[in-house]
Amino acid sequence: MRKIMMAANWKMNLSLAKLAGYIETLKLNRSVQSRDGLETVLAMPFPFLCKANELLPGTRIRLGAQNAHWQDRGAFTGEVSLAMLKEVGVSAVILGHSERRQQFGEDDEMIARKVKSCINIGMQAILCIGETLKEREQGETFSVVKRQLEAVLNILSSPGKLVVAYEPVWAIGNGNSATAAQAQEVHHFIRNIVRGKVASAADDTILLYGGSMNLSNVSELISQPDIDGGLIGGAALDPVTFSQMIDAVF
Ligand code: PGA
Repeated sequence: MRKIMMAANWKMNLSLAKLAGYIETLKLNRSVQSRDGLETVLAMPFPFLCKANELLPGTRIRLGAQNAHWQDRGAFTGEVSLAMLKEVGVSAVILGHSERRQQFGEDDEMIARKVKSCINIGMQAILCIGETLKEREQGETFSVVKRQLEAVLNILSSPGKLVVAYEPVWAIGNGNSATAAQAQEVHHFIRNIVRGKVASAADDTILLYGGSMNLSNVSELISQPDIDGGLIGGAALDPVTFSQMIDAVF
């Protein structure tokens, strides 16, 4: 039985001063604290991680990051390695987010290396894939998603701790979520690609939806057979809303 994962993607938002209050609010949520079938992840900016690692023991909340380099160490000014993230308690890393692909030039090959290193070091990789509006309008949704996913699957010996987040770029940050049917269709396609590579892994691989997930659409989206949770940006900046969204799932 797959778990439900609710992952907050803070992006470059919030502040160290708000960290403790955010965690305190989430700790009041009974599902977060006691439900075996739920993984709650907070993917926050690097400077908050050490403090969060001190605040999280005694909770079931997991610490996440939003990017990493694929090498352990070296002359890579401005970069952070997966080993460093692991040392400060991170157990899940968002990789290949469309904002990194579009604004920071990350390509499929680079992202595949990051995912491979992440899984090799024993951390969960949350791989983001998804088409732009133009690609959808040109009927390329499935080919884009397939290319992005296969670039990663082709260099992994096993999907292991891979989590795939389908995030249609046209739905991110604008209130214009995919419909449950649109999302389910692509999620089903993604699961079949995983099945084609490693049949035994397909039913265990957690597939998240991301893109304007909010309190009014979370329950319908996650009730789809192939949608196992959410990667939530804007709506998760408020811990009360994020907590209510988790309640809406159970
Ligand atoms: P959003 O962001 O929920 O604000 O659309 C999701 C994401 O980009 O991960």
